[in-house]
Amino acid sequence: CGIVGYVGQRSALDVVMGGLRRLEYRGYDSGGVALVADGEIVSAKKAGKLANLDAVLAETVMPPATTGIGHTRWATHGAPNDRNAHPHLDESGRVAVVHNGIIENFAELRAGIEASGRELSSETDTEVVAHLLAAEMERTPDLTEAVRLVCRQLEGAFTLVICHADHPGTVVGARRNSPLVVGRGDGENFLGSDVAAFIEFTRDAIELGQDQVVTITADDVVVTGFDGRPAETREYHVDWDLSAAEKGGYEWFMLKEIAEQPQAVADTLLGRHGRDGLLQLDEMRLSDDELRNVDKIVAIACGTSYYAAMVAKYAIEHWTRIPVEVELASEFRYRDPILDKTTLVVTISQSGETADTIEAIRYARQQRARVLSICNTNGSTIPRESDAVIYTHAGPEVAVASTKGFLSQLVACYLLGLYLAQVKGVKYGDEIARIIADLEGVPAGIQRMLDDGDEIRKVARDLAGSRSILFLGRHVGYPVALEGALKLKELAYIHAEGFSAGELKHGPIAVIEEGLPVFVVVPPKGRDLLQKKIVSNIQEVRARGARTIVLVEDGDDDVVPYADHLIRLPRLPTLLQPLVATVPLQIFACEFAAQLGHDVDQPRNLAKSVTVE
Ligand code: G6P
Repeated sequence: CGIVGYVGQRSALDVVMGGLRRLEYRGYDSGGVALVADGEIVSAKKAGKLANLDAVLAETVMPPATTGIGHTRWATHGAPNDRNAHPHLDESGRVAVVHNGIIENFAELRAGIEASGRELSSETDTEVVAHLLAAEMERTPDLTEAVRLVCRQLEGAFTLVICHADHPGTVVGARRNSPLVVGRGDGENFLGSDVAAFIEFTRDAIELGQDQVVTITADDVVVTGFDGRPAETREYHVDWDLSAAEKGGYEWFMLKEIAEQPQAVADTLLGRHGRDGLLQLDEMRLSDDELRNVDKIVAIACGTSYYAAMVAKYAIEHWTRIPVEVELASEFRYRDPILDKTTLVVTISQSGETADTIEAIRYARQQRARVLSICNTNGSTIPRESDAVIYTHAGPEVAVASTKGFLSQLVACYLLGLYLAQVKGVKYGDEIARIIADLEGVPAGIQRMLDDGDEIRKVARDLAGSRSILFLGRHVGYPVALEGALKLKELAYIHAEGFSAGELKHGPIAVIEEGLPVFVVVPPKGRDLLQKKIVSNIQEVRARGARTIVLVEDGDDDVVPYADHLIRLPRLPTLLQPLVATVPLQIFACEFAAQLGHDVDQPRNLAKSVTVE
């Protein structure tokens, strides 16, 4: 969900709605706002995308107000309808609450509230908070203290942002296991799920820690723990601005983000390679000695980031000879994994707020493993809870389906592999410099894929009626195939599956039938036999009627007779090929979905940052 809070001199409604628009990618099942005006709470909410709320607001006279909160929801408890939309008010309508996360003991709390004779009007866990707050406010007039008292009763994950009719000029926020940042302005202050909420007004942010409550007024920001003690916070400056969080002429954020990939890759490489030929990862807080002792790596992530972890396995094992396991974050801590202090857990997350990944980190650290994160979001929970961080510098990613986030994660994984190889002394300066030089050539390769985009867009238009599409790859082309299929599922809502081409004969080939589109990512013609094997696979599926779309490097003509459509890739070493091979698959999914009339940036049922397990 996306959350905004504002206190200052401007129209709170405008600031909050502007913030919600930029946070809508976090959830878009419903939206709502609450303002404090003339000693009353005035609120409006509506199911569906923010445009629906805009329509409601256009027909409602909202009083002028300079204190307000807002919410855009990704439903957990209760259907995404008007009644369950946030904000939620208590019975008296004096306190308004917006919430992100899941309150796990909500049934118990709800029963207590009902037993005391109060009536709840929604099915949400959030409304329970409004009622608890109203009850605490009967005992103390101090809103911040009341919030602290309520937070101490809550279990689970939550960000809360609250305003009260008797406290104009104040908004209180609280967080546990769910994101909330403060934006510090001049005569105004902001709260947001992430900095995009207030980037239009300030780039000075304050990171909140776990179990903290923040009270903002126009001139002050006060942070305390749930226990009431003053808390330590970290201030930081956001290094991107409003234009980075806006579409800039593209029809979709996703198209803009695909187009930004050469820059994202270049920026992630920037400054990592010293004049002495050695790699520098200065956000590393692990010593070389600690890294030399690493005897196993477990790479953990969700969704698209998980496919980056799969690629990382091939690269890191090949370059360092350290065994790498790859695991879905949601599975990891439930299977009793074998970890100790010589295990390096590498987590990959664009948002830094994915609940499954956060819980995996916490579990790993309890088992004494070291945790290194690859993350795109400064100040988010995952880097804060890790022993070391490699930031990707992709800039804000707004479209729900990850694109530049993924490519920059791949770069960070390669850098990590090379760095470990350097520290362990298994790779030397010139060898590393050669691979870095290859990486430095990649932005131009990606640009070429973008410039050639018309070809793949045409294929997408031709295939737009298909109900099922397969993707085949081998080696690092296998995670690329999985990512191609995931993009299509996410955006086009059709059946799409990625397979290892080698597995084809063990089952998947049975689904091949006349006209079924099959994408094949062909590995570079190298020393091993992979390319030859996959050329046979293409023939096998084609013999059974498949329509083949073949991604193959320049100069490899072996596949030409078996390709219904040919997409050329710039030549790169096998391990780096995903950086270019992924791009046409992204463009394909985007165009395919647009043909079907879908909202490319905000696909149904999904959210960019899944802050619940
Ligand atoms: C969500 C998004 C996916 C993303 C995954 C992991 O499910 O819809 O696009 O890959 O989360 O996100 P992260 O921020 O941890 O990389």
